[in-house]
Amino acid sequence: MQAELEREQANLKEAAAFLETKSQGAKPTVGVICGSGLSGLVNALDDKLVVDYSEIPHFPQTTIAGHTGELVFGKVGNVSVVLMRGRFHSYEGHSMRTVTLPVKLMRHIGVEFLIVTNAAGGVNRNFKVGDLMIISDHIGFPLLAGKHPLVGLNDDTFGGARFPPMSDAYDVTLRQLIWETAKDMGMESFMQRFGTYVMVSGPTYETGAESQMVLNMGGDSVGMSTVPEVVVARHCGIRVLGLSLITNSVRLPGDEGPVASHEEVLDTVNMRGEQIQQLVRSVLSKLDKD
Ligand code: 6GU
Repeated sequence: MQAELEREQANLKEAAAFLETKSQGAKPTVGVICGSGLSGLVNALDDKLVVDYSEIPHFPQTTIAGHTGELVFGKVGNVSVVLMRGRFHSYEGHSMRTVTLPVKLMRHIGVEFLIVTNAAGGVNRNFKVGDLMIISDHIGFPLLAGKHPLVGLNDDTFGGARFPPMSDAYDVTLRQLIWETAKDMGMESFMQRFGTYVMVSGPTYETGAESQMVLNMGGDSVGMSTVPEVVVARHCGIRVLGLSLITNSVRLPGDEGPVASHEEVLDTVNMRGEQIQQLVRSVLSKLDKD
């Protein structure tokens, strides 16, 4: 196990050195992870420099056909940003360590803030399709059951604790910042200020009974990502802002209406994509004085 950890640390150093050269000394302080269909967030950046995942030593490769796999360096005002187009999911067969390797790499190149986004099913009955939920808490089913990215020897680079707290995972200051920014931009009507995101393994969408369980346990949105990256970000001291775009409403037992489909998810993302870009751009511009 020690050898495995040392290999990962060496791989990360090599990948970080490659990116530092490749990005011509860009020192990104903010990382962004684009959720399903949200790769258009790249438009929030200026002065872009694109690095294909396949160029980065030891970086995982995406398995989903048609999904982009690139790391984009860019700027918003004085703020230097690195953005992931195409994330890794455990349902693709990647280990939790692989899913979260990009976050560790972000920390190695200096990232202090992470904005993580996802497309999710709406569980809370007051949520509408197209709402943008500021994640205030999470339940990570696979992680609770042992499929957890921090299982194994503890990597104490950047001060990672063996038993890191998660009750403060979603930064209160950043949540306040995006809420105020959204209000200023006239976007309150579709913002949900609080919510618990529940991660399930996927790739199946939930049965009615499973959706009912998620609702009963206090979940507001449900999806197949995000929690592993957030946990690893917190472990290495990155402050996190999480956003869940409600792309469809889950069906509870007895509900009428369409079953969940990837098409509906992408339609909603397309409807809100541009507004989310503007909102994220505005938030990014404010992250240089925090
Ligand atoms: Cl309904 N469930 C899950 N697990 N992920 C989703 C979703 C639903 N809608 C978008 N992503």
